[in-house]
Amino acid sequence: MMTITDLSVGYGAGDVLHSVDITAASGELTVIPGANGSGKSTLFRTVSGLLRPSSGRVEFDGEEITRSRSAAIVRRGLAHCPEGRHLFPRMSVEKNLTLGAYVGRRDRARVRTLLERSYELFPALRDKSHQSAGSLSGGQQQMVAIGRALMSDPKMLIPGRALDGVGAAGHPAGLRRHRRDQPEKASVCSSRSRTPGRP
Ligand SMILES: Nc1ncnc2c1ncn2[C@@H]1O[C@H](COP(=O)(O)OP(=O)(O)O)[C@@H](O)[C@H]1O
Ligand SMILES: [Mg+2]
Repeated sequence: MMTITDLSVGYGAGDVLHSVDITAASGELTVIPGANGSGKSTLFRTVSGLLRPSSGRVEFDGEEITRSRSAAIVRRGLAHCPEGRHLFPRMSVEKNLTLGAYVGRRDRARVRTLLERSYELFPALRDKSHQSAGSLSGGQQQMVAIGRALMSDPKMLIPGRALDGVGAAGHPAGLRRHRRDQPEKASVCSSRSRTPGRP
């Protein structure tokens, strides 16, 4: 599903990632371990088109996406839920979710089906669908952010730090349901390790 080859990327002052090779297959959950600052988020920003690599190649679903724009990458089926959530706090939960569906042409019935799926994955959001996203708890806002990424009906989801110590917030349960309902899909998560370089 995704093959990263010899990828190097940084923020102008030298590379943060040096010659990284990773493959992530359909139907699998690929976990990228690493201590704080080791470059997990940088990797996700790069494959989702938010950062330009200095060298290397990213292939997704049989096509090269190394220098594609992020909107084109989402349309190809790779959805990334970035750190910091980036919700619209004054819009309703449902409006925030719905925005995730408009990457290509979508009819209303399709959006309704995708919304219903979001509420099945994250039942806590159903009762709050008309509340402003900003009024929700941090964990619930995280559910909205992941739900919004899934509204593009991606082949691969990158939910960012979904596995890190947030069990009580309930969105890992939603991600487990997603993986159970659509086992052919792929996901790539990160997990913070205590020791640098060790899972
Ligand atoms: N916007 C940025 N500008 C400059 N350096 C950055 C930026 N974001 C992250 N970095 C640097 O890149 C390295 C990797 O960071 P990051 O990818 O956020 O790590 P992780 O997600 O594994 O904690 C760190 O040294 C960090 O300081
Ligand atoms: Mg990070």
